[in-house]
Amino acid sequence: MWLTIDKNINTSLIRQVYEQIRAMILEGKLSAGDKLPSTRWLSENLKISRNVILEAYAQLTAEGYIESRRGSGTIVAEDLYFKRCERNLEKSPHNSVYTRVENDLIDFRSGIPALDMFPQKEWGNLFNKVCSHMPYSYFRYCQPGGIMELRQALSEYLFRTRGICCRAEQIMIVSGSTQGLSLISKLLYRPNVEVVVEDPIHYGLLNVISSYGYLINPIPVDSKGIRTNIIETKNDVGFVYVTPSHQFPLGSILPIQRRIKLIRFAEKKNCYIVEDDYDSEFRYEGHPISSFYELDPNRVIYVGSFSKILAPALRLGYMILPDLLIDKYLKLKMYTDVHTESISQLVLAQFINDGKLEKHIWKMKKKYYNKRQALINNLRINFFDEYVIKGHAAGLHLVAEFQNILFTEEILKKITQQKVKVYPVEKYAIHKGRHRNKIILGYGHLSIDEITEGIRRIKKVIQNTII
Ligand SMILES: Cc1ncc(COP(=O)(O)O)c(C=O)c1O
Repeated sequence: MWLTIDKNINTSLIRQVYEQIRAMILEGKLSAGDKLPSTRWLSENLKISRNVILEAYAQLTAEGYIESRRGSGTIVAEDLYFKRCERNLEKSPHNSVYTRVENDLIDFRSGIPALDMFPQKEWGNLFNKVCSHMPYSYFRYCQPGGIMELRQALSEYLFRTRGICCRAEQIMIVSGSTQGLSLISKLLYRPNVEVVVEDPIHYGLLNVISSYGYLINPIPVDSKGIRTNIIETKNDVGFVYVTPSHQFPLGSILPIQRRIKLIRFAEKKNCYIVEDDYDSEFRYEGHPISSFYELDPNRVIYVGSFSKILAPALRLGYMILPDLLIDKYLKLKMYTDVHTESISQLVLAQFINDGKLEKHIWKMKKKYYNKRQALINNLRINFFDEYVIKGHAAGLHLVAEFQNILFTEEILKKITQQKVKVYPVEKYAIHKGRHRNKIILGYGHLSIDEITEGIRRIKKVIQNTII
């Protein structure tokens, strides 16, 4: 048995001796009953301290690889041949869409807020302050529903800003609304049950729902949102998923008549309605839209998110649950991830209670309004009257419908070659073919210069393409 020792590498001498002997045993080069050299002999031959060998042997003994037998020294233990599979430890290239920003690429991806406007310093200082001053008990496992300070702050905030009346105990803090929807899908799942969804719909969220095995019943959306008059099904329904304040992606507001129809449908099917209120804080005309939740708090599950008003990386969202679901939900959240990270919850509670959230939203609303106007102006300058903007003035994206352009793979490829990314509504459609002339243009994260340049490049592609 021979070992090689390298004093110039970062691995400790004990670890080097331990690993080499362990590898020889696992690979079968040393078999059960084989005698190991004495610690004195090894230390003299390797020219390292005997303590190093003693420590390595002690570790191998503790883990069961070797045994000391009176009279026969140290021997290899029984039943240790074990061929390990090769491990690939080569670093993979960083190719995450979020970490790699391609030079000069103008990406009209929807739903990304202006990350450069995140109150980084304020949040950092507050985080520091909260973390240094919070009682030790907060470092324990906390309640699955979330930190009460945040739930209380949110119930007051929702009442102030949306007129939503609910108790803090009904508000469940989740790691983003995606997790909220996932937990609700799991909670309400029964075999052969369907979920009624809008078509088009955010495909990521559709995947969340369908991953539980639900049948999907897609209902087309028109200029007023989901067409409630054509919802039909003989199946049991788990829930209806809607974005009533700002349909994603088409941007309509669901009128009260359709909301009432949907409630009647949910009553008949004895199911819930999930209201995804992902970006209604940013509304640029008129007053805030009333929530669906207010109409029937026992039937509507309200889902809110801080991804658009602050930053997606925070992974903070919330749900308002009907009382009947609370106990079951708390168990489910407990057995999923115990609770959402709590220090950030306390920071957010403080941020809301200090009035900073509303101030931030107010400031961002003005920024986004200006970006939206810049986008509309640039569309007008480049495309005159060849397009219409769909939906209401809200959120961080708009949908442009073109009269004579179909966003085929070919045209999208040409646009990408010009270093612009646009997202066809068709990609979000369940029934294909109805939205081929519409694109989603997210503007929240782009500067006015990027918006201007991006639309110019799209125009360049389109004018050179014969349709
Ligand atoms: C319609 C809609 N709902 C929900 C979400 C997800 O939000 P969160 O980051 O809170 O999971 C998004 C994200 O873009 C969205 O577009």
